[in-house]
Amino acid sequence: MAHRDELIASDIDAYLKQHEHKSLLRFITCGSVDDGKSTLIGRLLYDSKLLFEDHLAAMEADSRKWGTQGEHIDFALLVDGLAAEREQGITIDVAYRFFSTDRRKFIVADTPGHEQYTRNMVTGASTADAAVLMVDARKGILTQTRRHSYLVNLLGIRHICVAINKMDLVEYDPRVFAKIVEDYEGFARQLGLANVTFIPVSAFRGDNIMKPSEHMSWYHGPTLMGYLETVEVDDTRMQRAPFRMPVQWVNRPNLDFRGFAGTIAGGKVKPGDRIRVQPSGKESTVQRIVTFDGDLPEAVAGQSVTLTLADEIDISRGDLISGAEDAAGVADQFETTLVWMHDEPLLPGRSYLLKMGTRTVTAQVMHIKHQVNVNTLEHVAATTLGLNAIGVVTLHLDRNVGFDAYGDNRDTGGYILVDRMTNATMGAGMIHFALRRSQNIHMQHVDVDKAARNRLNHQKASVVWLTGLSGAGKSTVANLVEKKLHALGHRTYLLDGDNVRHGLNKDLGFTDQDRVENIRRVAEVAKLMVDAGLIVLTSFISPFRAERAMARSLLAPGEFYEVHADVPLAIAEQRDVKGLYKKARRGELKNFTGIDSDYEAPEAPELHLATDQVSPEEAADRIVAMLREHGRLS
Ligand code: ADX
Repeated sequence: MAHRDELIASDIDAYLKQHEHKSLLRFITCGSVDDGKSTLIGRLLYDSKLLFEDHLAAMEADSRKWGTQGEHIDFALLVDGLAAEREQGITIDVAYRFFSTDRRKFIVADTPGHEQYTRNMVTGASTADAAVLMVDARKGILTQTRRHSYLVNLLGIRHICVAINKMDLVEYDPRVFAKIVEDYEGFARQLGLANVTFIPVSAFRGDNIMKPSEHMSWYHGPTLMGYLETVEVDDTRMQRAPFRMPVQWVNRPNLDFRGFAGTIAGGKVKPGDRIRVQPSGKESTVQRIVTFDGDLPEAVAGQSVTLTLADEIDISRGDLISGAEDAAGVADQFETTLVWMHDEPLLPGRSYLLKMGTRTVTAQVMHIKHQVNVNTLEHVAATTLGLNAIGVVTLHLDRNVGFDAYGDNRDTGGYILVDRMTNATMGAGMIHFALRRSQNIHMQHVDVDKAARNRLNHQKASVVWLTGLSGAGKSTVANLVEKKLHALGHRTYLLDGDNVRHGLNKDLGFTDQDRVENIRRVAEVAKLMVDAGLIVLTSFISPFRAERAMARSLLAPGEFYEVHADVPLAIAEQRDVKGLYKKARRGELKNFTGIDSDYEAPEAPELHLATDQVSPEEAADRIVAMLREHGRLS
């Protein structure tokens, strides 16, 4: 490093210039905490004399871009160093650290290694060129090593370095190294991994990190730093891809200017290029490429720009601007790989938020084709995906989006699923292909619509959604409401749990997954019935907020009335009209709501009925009054 220090001292400008022209390697490290990952990163940072403060700003911008897929990274936390992280107990999802040698600049995404941190690995890996996989020489290849390898491959990282660490603790024995190499090569072949480099190291002692170890003269390959300094970086790959820019925001400072801002996710663009906006399919021509530093004659992948277009077309945040010649696909159903990252398992049928680039839509996993056993790479059948599971699923979105296959573009082909209630990241996925070109399936336009039916029926079709424990009186109240409305001349229909479960939903039981599917179907049926002009009463436990929110979201504002039939569990249990609570307490009935299955009470229902205090008659009157107040009965 002496050369560098001299250069800094004598000619800072020359030094900076040299630095600017160095290539940049983005890499990730993966492995368990105990594999010595932090020690290794500490060692790399320390030995390369740490951070270049002059360049932090530039790199910060880069790291922000790097934190794609909605992951927020607090830059201040990142540079505080390993010690602060540990001392203050700060948990950083993905920590990006920067260092540099005379030959190259580096950004390493340090992804914590516990099994539950697969998430961080996936988010950290989204634009990495290389992965350093840590293996403890004493333990060899573990399930986690295989899982990480599988993910690294899935994420399209082309260079893998298996750093076999703690060689000092196995007396630098070449046989230990050879055995691990052999084990891993077998797995790598199966997986189709090319470009794997094995390096025996001791991060703790510095063996084969910066300079060849005196203790391992039997090893003739590169040091870890030597590897990182020379591994191929393909900076221009994304520039050669078709033009893509997800619109981050519409910039309209005054009536004369309307620009579309975003970071270019693929290809190049220049004024005069024909573009297509997706999913709308509208086309126009690029007029200007505007930046803070003035207009550009051309912009490429990785740059943040504002485009202005020749025509006034409708574009909003989340739209994708593509080159008209080689535009992205448009679809709402996909086959994708999904990596599940949360303790709470995937519930097929549940609505999650899907974030893809700058777009957020609602999505449901409709079918799990298979799960991958990461040890054997076998495909196994699955009805759900638990923490860290990897599967191939079919995904349905509530609207069309512009997309690419993940293999073609990580930004426009990758997505994360977020819980609607908690905002937690639940999974990350990679699109394989669209399942059906939704262009081919249009919504059929009909002339007699909901408004026409509402007029004829002298009512505004609505859903009264009763929710509450078994025995709360939902069905009794719903039945009374229907009688009252019918007597008033309204057209109604009552969907009741016990009945629907004998027909449409007779294939469903009471696991969380089945309840989600039960409510999904009921919500869809209720929506159809509202379209048919009816006032629909539903009487289902519907224990999960997410599904009730989903039901609400299917309907127009003002059409959905959530009514909580609320009794203390003890009273429902005392009533026990069907004898089911007793059965459940005896353990003869599994997953019984309130006993060994959750009930998530509504937070803001349109109406709250304490059904242990209010008579069914009065409860029904209050529902009818509510509908009248909201103008649904005229
Ligand atoms: S939901 O949770 O999926 O909304 P739903 O309302 O359709 O449930 O069905 C609940 C009815 O099924 C209860 O009223 C009860 O009669 C019956 N039942 C049978 N097993 C269970 C169970 N494990 N948990 C709750 N209800 C059950």
